[in-house]
Amino acid sequence: MKNFLIVLSIFILCQSCNKKAVVPTIIPQQTKTSINASPHVEALIAKMTLEEKIGQMTQFNGFWDATGPVPKKDDNNWKYDLLKAGKVGSVLNVSGAENVCKMQEVAMNSKLGIPLIFGLDVIHGHKVLTPIPLAESCSWNLDLIETSAANAAKEAAARGINWTFAPMVDISRDARWGRVMEGGGEDPYLGSLVGAARVKGFQGSDLKNEFTIAACVKHFAGYGFAESGKDYNTADVGTSTLYNTILPPFKACVDAGALTVMNSFNVLNGIPATGDKFLQRDVLKDQWGFEGFIVSDWGSAKEMIDHGFSKDLKHAAVQAANAGSDMDMESYAYITHLAEAVNEGLVDIKHIDDAVRRILTVKEKLGLFDDPYKYCNTDREKEWVYNEAFNKDALALANESIVLLRNENNTLPLDKSKKIAVIGTLANDKTSPLGNWRMGSDDGTSISVLEGLKNLNVDYSYAEGAKLITNEPSFVFEMIVEEKDKSGFQEAIDLAPSSDQVIMVLGEHGYQSGEGRSRSKLNFPGLQEELLRKIYEVNKNIVLVVMSGRPLVLTWANDNLPAIVQAWQLGTESGNAIAQTLYGDNNPSGKLTMSFPRSVGQMPLYYNPYTTGRPGPLPDMVFWSHYIDESNAPLYPFGFGLSYSTFTYSNLTIDASQKNKVMVGIDVTNESKREGKEVVQLYLQDKVASVVRPITELKGFEKITLGPKESKRVEFVLTSKELGFFDNVGKFVVEGGEFNVMVGGSSSTGIKGSFNLQQNQVDE
Ligand code: NOJ
Repeated sequence: MKNFLIVLSIFILCQSCNKKAVVPTIIPQQTKTSINASPHVEALIAKMTLEEKIGQMTQFNGFWDATGPVPKKDDNNWKYDLLKAGKVGSVLNVSGAENVCKMQEVAMNSKLGIPLIFGLDVIHGHKVLTPIPLAESCSWNLDLIETSAANAAKEAAARGINWTFAPMVDISRDARWGRVMEGGGEDPYLGSLVGAARVKGFQGSDLKNEFTIAACVKHFAGYGFAESGKDYNTADVGTSTLYNTILPPFKACVDAGALTVMNSFNVLNGIPATGDKFLQRDVLKDQWGFEGFIVSDWGSAKEMIDHGFSKDLKHAAVQAANAGSDMDMESYAYITHLAEAVNEGLVDIKHIDDAVRRILTVKEKLGLFDDPYKYCNTDREKEWVYNEAFNKDALALANESIVLLRNENNTLPLDKSKKIAVIGTLANDKTSPLGNWRMGSDDGTSISVLEGLKNLNVDYSYAEGAKLITNEPSFVFEMIVEEKDKSGFQEAIDLAPSSDQVIMVLGEHGYQSGEGRSRSKLNFPGLQEELLRKIYEVNKNIVLVVMSGRPLVLTWANDNLPAIVQAWQLGTESGNAIAQTLYGDNNPSGKLTMSFPRSVGQMPLYYNPYTTGRPGPLPDMVFWSHYIDESNAPLYPFGFGLSYSTFTYSNLTIDASQKNKVMVGIDVTNESKREGKEVVQLYLQDKVASVVRPITELKGFEKITLGPKESKRVEFVLTSKELGFFDNVGKFVVEGGEFNVMVGGSSSTGIKGSFNLQQNQVDE
């Protein structure tokens, strides 16, 4: 309520200064009691006791493994008894058709027989893995991204899963944050489209179909703005950033039909997201009309005690439930305290009914009331798990996710007649390229670079140089220890000089990014930097292949090496995609979705900041916005990526004479003799506005394929959606005035133009 009143008063004050108002708004206007549910759901709710309702609002971590003994009364006593009594709504981290089926049977044999929903982090594939989401986003290929999510859903669904905790749409501008690997990069426009494509892929067009699963958009909200890139840290952001950068991808996913949303661990502007009524009830449920349910993040209700927001677990339960967090993941707050809190009048029963109505409606939409065992088919499991049909799509996406960062004198593609040395432990790694967040996958299932080269019949010699880490973490929360032993250096140093070309594969271990993996340095970890310099001393002809879960600082490499390929962690088909790219069977077409820094001190770094009053540069003068020891520019900007083809842009046209749309057109030509794909990007700047606008913003793109010497005209239509912005009270406005346009192959290069938008040109 407090938030609402502040927002409302600022809104009234600002009415006179707004130039022009249009379309949707995020300002809370009314508080709806609940959603409309089916008669079946209402009838169930009418039969439920308060405890059964709170049971539906409870999610437990897996305590079940059908390959071992099935829990009896004495094992896992408490959870098992609750399950039998129908007082568990969902479990996470239980998979396998047999496990799921047996567990579902227990729930179905309870008094009301309400099916469980089974959640798992199906983030970039399930068994067959596609590139980490950050890499996927660099493909800018929404069809392939949607297919990747659809395949993941199909494989996971065959293993009993019907709910994934994806997509993560946290915009982040700080590569120190380990979870950048799980999102779609730094830009809200692209991030919205990628998020929506992934929701459509997971959920398909028919949720009752046994191959689709519910999506969960996370983490609502502000998690990607963790201060200093340190995971779980506070996010303090202004309203303009909240409305224009953080929230739009969530809105796009809700509009795409996402059935669930996950809140987040962090405090946003002083309020833990799990206890934030403004975010959850006012914005998400009321303003956006979200009809699904909100699950807390793991233990995030309980963490409100550590945040200093709740005095104890009961207080946390009350605050989370009142704020609109419908399901409690592993805090045990609701199941322990919520009934008591309702009986004491601390939580209105209407909030409980609202949560249960939403949860049951999601189960109904998934078809679980029609057939609670629809995800329990072991024959289907055999057919779809590791089905080779997925590998083809995984390879196509891996190929398009690779970003060629540097290619002096056409070093790449390589010629098979050249004598090749491959150096680096990651070249021979079949696990690391799977990346993090791969809960269902099996270690050692990626094609290594060496295997990829063999598959292309490339002759090479190999030396490891040095290991990256001393232990091979078997599970996601294990710490890793960097290797100190340099005894393998000499073998690599001896090998390099006799080769025409050295391929060095360096980067991060798959578990050096992801949750809890923030880094204060963005170099190659361990001994790799030193190894690289030593090899450079004996052979400068190095093609650097970078495997990482985040942008790294590649400044030295950029200044000294002829070719750099950003290969991220590409999943199961990693080595094939890398080899095909190095040897020209794949013409790289990826474009960066996060800016690459020159040094870590540039963090946070992003292509679309606001300008300052002192943008500079001022040649002989220090009083402008800059570093005295580093350029302001990134090493590689957002949207950047080379190809083996050369694309030129010409004939920019802008037609701003029509009502409700501005048309922009450009000719793009492939000047090379090789077919290639180009991501044609359109950037806008609203030059003067009532709330300052970024120096540039992506507002359109199209990925096109051009044959040798072929030209295509690409047309963009800008509507109020692209021309407007959210003001500081969350109201969407389009303001007349001058706009700059740039169309090109990255956020820093292109053909520029401008147009004037008349104040009355766009409908209110
Ligand atoms: C915590 C993570 O923040 C969240 O993204 C994930 O879905 C849950 N754990 C469940 O694994």
